[in-house]
Amino acid sequence: MANIEKTEFNIQQPASQERDAVEPTQREGERDAERALRPRSIEEFIGQPKVRNQLNLVLGGAKQRGVTPDHVLLSGPPGLGKTTMAMIIAYELGTSLRMTSGPALERAGDLAAMLSNLMEGDVLFIDEIHRMARPAEEMLYMAMEDFRVDVIVGKGPGATSIPLELAPFTLVGATTRSGMLTGPLRDRFGFTAQMEFYSTEDLTKVVLRAAKILGVTIAHDAAMEIASRSRGTPRIANRLLRRVRDFAEVHADGSIDLGAAKAALLVFDVDEKGLDRLDRAVLDALIRGHGGGPVGVSTLAIAVGEEPSTVEEVCEPYLVRAGMVARTGRGRVATAAAWHHLGLQPPEGALGMLEF
Ligand SMILES: Nc1ncnc2c1ncn2[C@@H]1O[C@H](COP(=O)(O)OP(=O)(O)OP(=O)(O)O)[C@@H](O)[C@H]1O
Ligand SMILES: [Mg+2]
Repeated sequence: MANIEKTEFNIQQPASQERDAVEPTQREGERDAERALRPRSIEEFIGQPKVRNQLNLVLGGAKQRGVTPDHVLLSGPPGLGKTTMAMIIAYELGTSLRMTSGPALERAGDLAAMLSNLMEGDVLFIDEIHRMARPAEEMLYMAMEDFRVDVIVGKGPGATSIPLELAPFTLVGATTRSGMLTGPLRDRFGFTAQMEFYSTEDLTKVVLRAAKILGVTIAHDAAMEIASRSRGTPRIANRLLRRVRDFAEVHADGSIDLGAAKAALLVFDVDEKGLDRLDRAVLDALIRGHGGGPVGVSTLAIAVGEEPSTVEEVCEPYLVRAGMVARTGRGRVATAAAWHHLGLQPPEGALGMLEF
């Protein structure tokens, strides 16, 4: 008995320290695990039917005409497969992929070096392209349009500009914040693929596929259970699968049935809707502490012992997307779904109540 109490006591840490199970961005040390699970071809890529169709057309058309395809912008929240798709584009074109990222391109010279090394038909992938420094971005305009750049050599009045021809290439940019892209940059992409959150059905396929690669036996309903708690995000689905696998190896024979999946997700504090402890703490503060709101974000943050920015940027997007919290002019309001989620009866007139 004493043991159990101790274990439960140990779980009472600040919620954020545990918050990694359902975080959509890549966690430390996750890179290798993710690499092993990346689909390599469009065929293998699960879900995103619209993007897949569009890309098939863009790439197929260019291949038929024997030209390099238009530049492609991949836009969408973290963990939905932008980097994966960039690699797939190069694979489908049978060319090589050069990778860099916006923050790495501090000076125009950094970009010039990258561009001048490209071979004809290569794919240049710039991740987080909205974070590129201005001078590099301006150089990129001309590179995208005319496959040439002007490299400035020297400083002040003696500076000269040397034109540099580039091999025709395809730029693939990825961004989680397409709103932060400047107009001129956005206009130079021939095609923008908007990645969407995945259905539970598609995520179930993601989980089953990953389990196969990892050599784990998993029941279909267990895969579905993991999928339905993964917030529409394959990165989270793959991570939860790895956690559940660890649990099943310690507590069972390593194969995952529905019972093992549920027990593991309970240990890792991910509930049926994919909320973790911090999410539930926010709902609790909103509903039990403030009658469902409206209440300001800083008040909520104090109640759960977090920074307002954490509540706003880490918890809220999903609570809003899941239809549990609404942002109003006067503050945050819990919807009927949030009351139900905590096992409570929503008051008359709660947001999202069916009216008869
Ligand atoms: N359609 C898919 N099918 C199977 N696995 C996928 C799919 N999309 C993404 N994944 C897996 O999810 C993980 C994250 O994908 P990826 O790194 O491509 O996301 P991202 O959109 O680039 O994220 P970020 O914005 O953080 O860079 C990878 O391990 C990848 O294998
Ligand atoms: Mg990425």
